[in-house]
This record gives sequence, C-alpha cells and structure tokens, in this order.
Amino acid sequence: MKTFNYTYPVNVYFGEGSAKTAFSNELKKYGKKVLLAYGGGSIKKNGIYDEIVSLLKEENKEVIEFNGIMPNPTYKKVQEGVELVKKENIDFILAVGGGSVIDCCKVISSQAVIDEDIWDLEYVHGKFPTEGIPMGAIVTASGTGAEMNGGAVITHEEKNWKGGIFASTADFVVLDPAYTLTVPSMQVLSGAFDTLSHALETYLGNSDQDNVSDDVALAIMKNTVVNMRRLLKDINDEQARSNLMWDSAMAENGILKCGRQTDFQVHQIEHQLGAFTDCNHGQGLAVIQPVYCYHILNDAREKLTRFAQVVFGQKTAEEGLEALQNFIKECHLPTTLPELKSKVEITNDLLKKVADTTNLIKTNPRTLAKEEVYDILLECM
Ligand code: NZQ
Ligand code: ZN
Repeated sequence: MKTFNYTYPVNVYFGEGSAKTAFSNELKKYGKKVLLAYGGGSIKKNGIYDEIVSLLKEENKEVIEFNGIMPNPTYKKVQEGVELVKKENIDFILAVGGGSVIDCCKVISSQAVIDEDIWDLEYVHGKFPTEGIPMGAIVTASGTGAEMNGGAVITHEEKNWKGGIFASTADFVVLDPAYTLTVPSMQVLSGAFDTLSHALETYLGNSDQDNVSDDVALAIMKNTVVNMRRLLKDINDEQARSNLMWDSAMAENGILKCGRQTDFQVHQIEHQLGAFTDCNHGQGLAVIQPVYCYHILNDAREKLTRFAQVVFGQKTAEEGLEALQNFIKECHLPTTLPELKSKVEITNDLLKKVADTTNLIKTNPRTLAKEEVYDILLECM
C-alpha cells in the first residue's frame, strides 16, 4: 500500500426526509444569507424547490437565487456565481441538483474568497485553494459522486478544455432517493454508468495485490449492475435508486482510492470530448470505456479477468468485456460516438483535437500515446 492520510470532512444525511434533519442540525452554524443554486428548472417542476425554500424559511434564512447552471457547467457560469456571492455577501451556498450544479458551486465557493483567477492559480502556479464559503449539497440526480469530494469538473470554453479544478468540499450533503424519482431514465442509467466507470477506473490503476480497495471496487461495480438491471425492469424502483445513490457516493468518497493509484484515462478522454461536443458525461463514458478496456486488455489481463468473474459472472477477460458491451446495449446507452448528442458534428478532425488535448494518465496499466487516444476515438465511431 502507498502511504496515505484519510479524513472525511462531509457530513452525510441519507434517506427520505433527511433535508429537514440536515438543515436543523447544520444551518445554525452559518449566517443568514443563503445562495440557493440550481440548474435549468427541474426542481421547480418536481416540487423540490418549494420544499427546500420552505425548509430554509423555517431556519430563518434569507434566500438569494442563482439558477441556470447547465449540464457540463462552464467557467463563465462559475464567474457569474462568484459575482453574485460577493455582491450579496453570501454566508452559505446550497447546491441543489446533480453533479453539474454541485461542481459549479464548489468552484464558486473557492473563487469567491481568492483574488487570483482559480484556473491560473492551479494550472499556471500549481497552487490550490485552502478556504471557501461554506456550502451544502442536495443531490437530485446521482451518479457522479460530486457531493462527496472537493474536485469539480468545469468546461473552460475559451480554452476548449474540460477538466478538474480542486475546490471546496461540501460541509454536509443530503442524499434523499425520493428526490431522484423524476430524473429521466436515460439520465438515471447514464449516471449509474458513471458510477460503474468510477469504480472500474479506480480498480484499473496500479495497486498492490490482494488490497481491499480492489475488492470494494468490484463489489460496488457488481452492486451497480444489479441495481441498474432492477431499474431496467422498473424505472421507478425506489429501493434500486436508493442503492445506486449510495453506490455513487461510495465510488467517489475517496475510500476506494486509499493506498493505491487510479487510472481515470477514460474520464480524461471523455472530458475532452465533452469540451468540444458538450455531450452527456455518462453516455460518453459508455461509448469509450469498453473500447479502452479492449485496448489495454493485455496490460491488465489479471484485473479484467477478476472483473469478468465478479461483476458479470464470466470466466475470461474477453468474455467480461463482451458482457460489459452487451450490458451497455441492454441499458440503451450509446455505443458509438455518432449516437451522442453533440453541439457540433463529430468528425475525424475533431477527434484529433480531442486526442491532442487529452490529459495522459501515468498510473494506469499502461500510459497511452496521443496517437493511441486518437485510435481509440476512431474505433468509437
Ligand atoms: O438542470 P436541471 O433542470 O435540474 O436538469 C438536470 C440536467 O438536465 C436533470 N436533473 C437533475 N435532477 C433532476 C433532473 N431532472 C429531473 N428530476 C430531477 N430530480 O439532469 C440533467 C443532468 O444533470 P447533471 O448535473 O448535468 O448530471 P450529472 O449528475 O451526471 O453531472 C454531470 C457533470 O458532473 C461531472 C461531469 O463531467 C459533468 O460535468 N462530473 C463530476 C465529478 C466530480 N465532481 O466528482 C466526477 C464525474 O466523473 C464527472 O466528471
Ligand atoms: Zn464520471
């Protein structure tokens, strides 16, 4: 095992009705002015907005709204939020939404207390923020696990770049599976596929033999597949949504990453694909993940064999990858790039740009060359 230091700063409230408990336990610690941040309006249609506003009023909070946070949140939207937080002297940020809203708020929280542009701070000067406006997150669409950590994924449109920004971690989060019941089925399944990919990408990174993180990652993958299959039978199965919500949190709360390295090469490729196309994150992963796994099969044969056995009940690595591909089809997730909803046409030239700007990971079974990333993307066409 590599040396590590593990502390967990997020107070998690799981289960139906837990927003009320969370607010009455947590909100007294903070000042009166709360920024209520959300996305394109789903929370207004499904009643979550009214419920949260009334719970905030019960806690005597003054609510200032910040809405319109888009899927794949942009750096510009972050700056818009920062301006509002400063203008209104916000005491606490409450993110209500999926990974996009939560990530946007994590960076708003950090950027609001530092003068330097956070992208420059991290990517030019190699420094990271240490403080932020306190924040909480209410998850309405699970899968990313964004609520469980301090990393945010942001699209910097001017730089044609989508990637990680190290920012604030939520002080508390609410995971109420009932809040996810109105998420459209494609988003439910692509979100759950994101969870599967997080556990697989962590598992594929270099690690000691027989370490517990590998076994936990396999258990999370197996459980995710079992519950996704339950949803294929009944998309309103609340128990399955609840199980998936905790799978998602478990995959990204850092516990799987203790004492080991991670891969996350597929995520790096997908993020750059997202920078150019604005595609859905989980759907992009569904296309790229199996192609990447075939590509590194001989470098990770032992791990992919265990994956085949534990997650899909198959014998060989090849059979496991075939089962993964069939599972993606079973979920009606896309299997080729042209099936993705993209803001521009996906051409070979565009894929070359994606490949040339993809961050290459050095802790996976084998470091890829940029040409190989391009090959993988061409195979996805
Ligand atoms: O914007 P609204 O109207 O709320 O609609 C959203 C959005 O269109 C909708 N939705 C959310 N809750 C709903 C609902 N619709 C009906 N009922 C509800 N209860 O779902 C759509 C997608 O939301 P989004 O937040 O974009 O999805 P997701 O949670 O998959 O987040 C994706 C973002 O997270 C990043 C991705 O790259 C992407 O930008 N990731 C963040 C990570 C992290 N911070 O740890 C890790 C991941 O690997 C990932 O990269
Ligand atoms: Zn992901």
